[in-house]
Amino acid sequence: MRFLLTGGAGFIGSHTCVALLNAGHEVVVLDNYYNSSPEALRRVEKITGKKVTAYEGDCCDADTVNRVLDNEKIDAAVHFAGYKAVGESVRIPLNYYENNINSAITLCRCMSAHGVKRLVFSSSATVYGEQNQPPYTEDMPRGACTNPYGWTKSMIEQILTDLVVSDPQWTVVLLRYFNPVGAHESGLIGEDPSGIPNNLMPFICQTAAGVREKLSMFGNDYPTPDGTCVRDYIHVMDLAEGHVKALEYAMQHQGTEIINLGTGEGYSVYQVVRAFEQVNHLTLRKQDAPRRAGDLPESYANASKAERLLGWHATRSLEDMCRDAWHWQQLNPHGYRE
Ligand code: WQD
Repeated sequence: MRFLLTGGAGFIGSHTCVALLNAGHEVVVLDNYYNSSPEALRRVEKITGKKVTAYEGDCCDADTVNRVLDNEKIDAAVHFAGYKAVGESVRIPLNYYENNINSAITLCRCMSAHGVKRLVFSSSATVYGEQNQPPYTEDMPRGACTNPYGWTKSMIEQILTDLVVSDPQWTVVLLRYFNPVGAHESGLIGEDPSGIPNNLMPFICQTAAGVREKLSMFGNDYPTPDGTCVRDYIHVMDLAEGHVKALEYAMQHQGTEIINLGTGEGYSVYQVVRAFEQVNHLTLRKQDAPRRAGDLPESYANASKAERLLGWHATRSLEDMCRDAWHWQQLNPHGYRE
């Protein structure tokens, strides 16, 4: 099969390219490299020994998307492209709503016009909001999100669900990611955050590398076993392999399906820090710090639907995530920049 990946040069997109190529599929990437690098795709080709067809362009631009769909025979698409920084989304909400929602709608319109009606969407566990209690199951109602980034994911889920109702020829798989971390085991591709990282694992890596002075661990008075927040961290290669299964599923089924991609296992901030130190034989400079606004005490998946529908479950451990993240960081201290 031949799949279009919008945002395919990004963190999750590039790892999904590897997984798809390794599974014998072909990939076409559309990316504007706003928050990613074409170097990631060259590295994907190096890892797999296979070719990536890449277009530079914006998914909000219908002419661009139509040109790709005119040129390439596409069986289904994964829509990764989008802004993803939680804090930034609070500062510039209109940019987030405009870009994320526009690109999803534009992509669907162009796909429809080309008769390509199978889509996998990068959603997020953040859509469960504050009302639901983990472990999260896909049949829970979406909750109130704590930031505009989360709302764009929730709104796009609704838009895509309505699209399927209006045209039953469509197939949409909404993948709700938990906390993707780690990197391909080669260390050639990984997460390359711009500026100061917001997320825990990149911040840990940069602290270990001496780029950041000290890790602040936000909040130790949560109602959790050790007082720090619990998250369902998932190795990005497990996540990538989940996309392969989701696309293969989308080729065989119709309608809308929501699927959690998590391990089903929660780890606290302290547990992640300890695992990172142990597996990589180092000690991080770190301190306890006040809670970060908007953090929920616990978030983890019930991962049984992915197993049932896709025959997929995560196989990599927290230790694998910590080792591979550090391997990537050491080989690429400045990310994809020279
Ligand atoms: C995890 C834990 C922090 C940094 C976010 C988005 C979500 C999704 C993934 C993607 C929390 C703590 C963090 C640090 C720390 N978005 N922490 N020190 O908040 O679960 O999810 O990323 O595009 O929508 O909300 O992940 O990695 O930021 O935080 O103590 O320097 O680590 O407080 O408890 P989060 P995270």
